[in-house]
Order: sequence, then C-alpha cells, then structure tokens
Amino acid sequence: MPGIRLILCQKIHKKNHMKVDVLLGLQWGDEGKGKVVDVLTPRYDVITRFQGGPNAGHTLEFNNHKHILHNIPSGVFREDKLNIISNGVVLDPIVFKREIDSIMAMGIDLTQNLWISRKAHLILPTHRILDAASEAAKGKSKIGSTLKGIGPAYMDKTGRNGLRVGDMELDFKARYEELKAKHEKLLKQYDFEYSLEEEEKFFEGIEVIRKFNRVDTEYELNRLLEENKSILAEGAQGTLLDIDFGSYPFVTSSNTICAGACTGMGIAPSTIGEVYGIFKAYCTRVGSGPFPSELVDDQGERLRDIGKEFGSTTGRPRRCGWLDLVALKYSIMLNGVTQLIMTKTDVLDSFDTIKVATSYSIDGELSDHLPYNLEANVKPVFTEMQGWKTDLSGIRSGDQFPRELKEYIQFLEKELKVPVKYISVGPDREQIVEL
Ligand code: GDP
Ligand code: IMO
Ligand code: MG
Repeated sequence: MPGIRLILCQKIHKKNHMKVDVLLGLQWGDEGKGKVVDVLTPRYDVITRFQGGPNAGHTLEFNNHKHILHNIPSGVFREDKLNIISNGVVLDPIVFKREIDSIMAMGIDLTQNLWISRKAHLILPTHRILDAASEAAKGKSKIGSTLKGIGPAYMDKTGRNGLRVGDMELDFKARYEELKAKHEKLLKQYDFEYSLEEEEKFFEGIEVIRKFNRVDTEYELNRLLEENKSILAEGAQGTLLDIDFGSYPFVTSSNTICAGACTGMGIAPSTIGEVYGIFKAYCTRVGSGPFPSELVDDQGERLRDIGKEFGSTTGRPRRCGWLDLVALKYSIMLNGVTQLIMTKTDVLDSFDTIKVATSYSIDGELSDHLPYNLEANVKPVFTEMQGWKTDLSGIRSGDQFPRELKEYIQFLEKELKVPVKYISVGPDREQIVEL
C-alpha cells in the first residue's frame, strides 16, 4: 500500500517540521539570558523555562525600567505570547507570588498566558532552611548557594519525596505536613536555628498558583509543535554549573545543558532546532569554586565596576576574569551550539588590550581540555588582542563596528567554529546588533 505509506510518511515529516530553539548560558550564569530572550521573543509563540528555580535572576531592561525575573519566563513582557513553566523547574510559591504581584502592578495580567506544569516540584520554606543549614555546616567549603532551596528541592525530587504542583488537586496539606516533618527530622542533625514564619506566605503563594492554568505541559508543548507553533526554551544558570558537567561540587542541582531541555519539557531530542549559546565577552562567577581565568587584581575590579557585576538574585559581587575559550569550547560541545551570542561587549570599550585564554598549562603541560580537577594547578595561557576603544552602546549595525572588534569576533569564530550571530552592546532591549 504505497499510497498509505506515503501519506503516513508525509505526516511524520510534517510532525518533525517545527522545532524547539534553546537558549543557554555557556559560562557560570548571568550571561544576559533574560535580556536576549526578551529580544528574541517577538519571533516565537511560546517561551518556556525548563530547569532551575528562583536561584535564577534574569534581567530585562526597556523604557528605562529594569525587571528581574526568577521563576517566570522572560517572554512575559511581550504581548500575546504564551509562557510556560515546565516540569523541570522547581517553583517557590512565595517568590512566584511576589513576581506576579509586581508584574500585576504594571497592569499585566498573566493568568491566561502563563501555564504551569503539574509535574513541576515545589520549594517549601523548609527546603530553604535545609539549604542554609547545609551551607553553614560546610563552613569554608560551602558551595556559595543562592540559598533558595534549590539543592534540597531537587534532592526530594530524585529521592522521590517531592511535593508537586499537581498535588494541589489532591490532599495537599497532608502531603505538605509529611514532607515538612521529614525536613524537621533532618534539621535536627544540624545545629541550626530556624523559624517557620514563612509558612503562611507559602500557602498564600499556593493560592496564587491556583489562579493559573496547571496542566501536563509535556502534552501541551508537543501539541503546540504539531500546530506549527514556535517555541523558545530559556535556560537558567550556565553550562559550567551543570550538575553532571559543571565544576562539581560547585554547581547547581539541575542539568543546565541542552539535554536538560528534553527532560525538563518532555520533548524528544529530535525536536531541538537552533541552540543559541550565550556568553559574556569576559567571564564572571558568583559563589565558590574554581575559575581559571579569574582576575584578582585591578583589571578584575574594573570589569566588575563597568559591568555592574553584582548578583541579580543575591546582590553578591561577582568574581570577574577574562574570556576562557577552553571552557567555552567544552560548553559548545556539550550543548551542540549552532549560533553564538556575545553580551556585555560594551564593558570592554575602554580597555587598551583584551586577553582571551586559549589553552591551559596544567603542571607545565599545555592542554585544551577542561581537566577533571579544575582546582589543580591550572594556569590559563592568554592571547592578547587590541582593544577597540570605542563607545559601542549606540551602534546598531555590524558595519559600524570598529576594526578591532571585527577582528575579535573573527578570532572567536575561527577558534570556536560556530558563527557569532548577535552582539549585545548594553542592557536595554534595543542595544543589540544582529550580524
Ligand atoms: P542572566 O541571569 O543570564 O539573565 O543575566 P543577569 O540578568 O543575571 O545579568 C546580566 C546583567 O547584565 C544584567 O544586569 C543585564 O541588565 C546586564 N546586561 C545584559 N546584556 C548587557 C550588555 O550587553 N551590556 C551591558 N553593559 N549590560 C548587559
Ligand atoms: P542565572 O539563571 C549565577 C550559582 C550559585 C552557586 C551555585 C549553586 O541568573 O544565570 P544554587 O542556589 O543553585 O544552590 O547555587 O550556583 N548560581 C548561579 N550563578 N547565575 C545563576 O542563575 C545562578 N544560579 C545558581 O551562586 O555558586
Ligand atoms: Mg542572573
């Protein structure tokens, strides 16, 4: 029956037509994901977060206003877009209510256009307390967690104890109490004082979540793909904070890499389309852990001052350093990046020269691999390039870029073997150049 086979094949072919594009951080987070998702949103029907939780702080700027989103996808400020919090996210009802309240105050009602997966796990007040107790017990070797309860919430997920959004339709209070009791038992092993005063706010947050469409988002996302809707998946954190491939144990507790989008949304690997890899023109890291190209001198301070490098979630000063191509190549490999986006390029405007780490010297041996033990004697080997000494903030076309910046981009493309498609030259949504 060749006719029927042909029709079936055409159907399958059509099914494969629409893809999910994924945007991910290639460094240690804070690469400017929020800003770029906001810039790209007009091209998509749906924006979705697939992992992480309120440890994320994604900043968007437009009309002289700055907004920092933690749990909510960065597509919410563009009209008529559907935003989805998918199953891989850990959701804190307290933070969620706060975010919804502040967006509501701007006259934006999200109750129709923001959907939440029933399978997303909830962060309880006791998860946050456990996070703080665990960090305090680690002392000097602490991870430098944002203390948002991320680790303990994912531990309950993989330990099969977690409380999910869908449980709100079941005997929620009993399940909550059961999990809280488990946490209180655990807390006894720490010498850590705590109070449960946030419990009331937690249940207020749950009531806010009830106003939203709580669905099996894996079905909805696959249906939207079949209807030829375009989807952009917004990563949180960065590849070097990935639970498997990051600088373990100084990592977050989810898979931040592209593969995490499949499990975090319930989509097949074959549905992934473009993979946008976003990186700063230099490097930052907030929290503890190895950072080979870190600058602990005036240059590092200068990057922090000009780049306003203070955490969007915790306000902590970010550690700064030069761009690290060994780490960047690793991230590109893990994610299958198809297009690169470089942000904060304007931060380098006043530098006479710019350095880029092209390999590592490990105990005197040159290597272009990220070693298992990044805390070993890893010294970056730098290439120095001429700075452009030009104010980029008003430039909107690649033709107007100074020669030195064009050379910098060409150098990166040659090393990384992936095209650089966007250059961000300031925090505002208008400050972007498509190449
Ligand atoms: P995210 O977590 O990846 O979304 O990044 P964050 O929002 O935590 O941090 C990026 C910071 O840099 C925010 O304050 C942004 O407003 C700002 N930003 C984003 N792109 C640019 C840029 O191209 N130039 C400058 N100067 N700032 C930028
Ligand atoms: P966005 O999405 C930068 C870091 C913390 C800490 C480690 C573990 O804004 O890029 P966790 O709270 O997950 O237990 O912290 O990961 N971290 C981030 N650093 N940007 C983030 O998110 C981060 N989310 C977590 O500082 O070192
Ligand atoms: Mg951030």
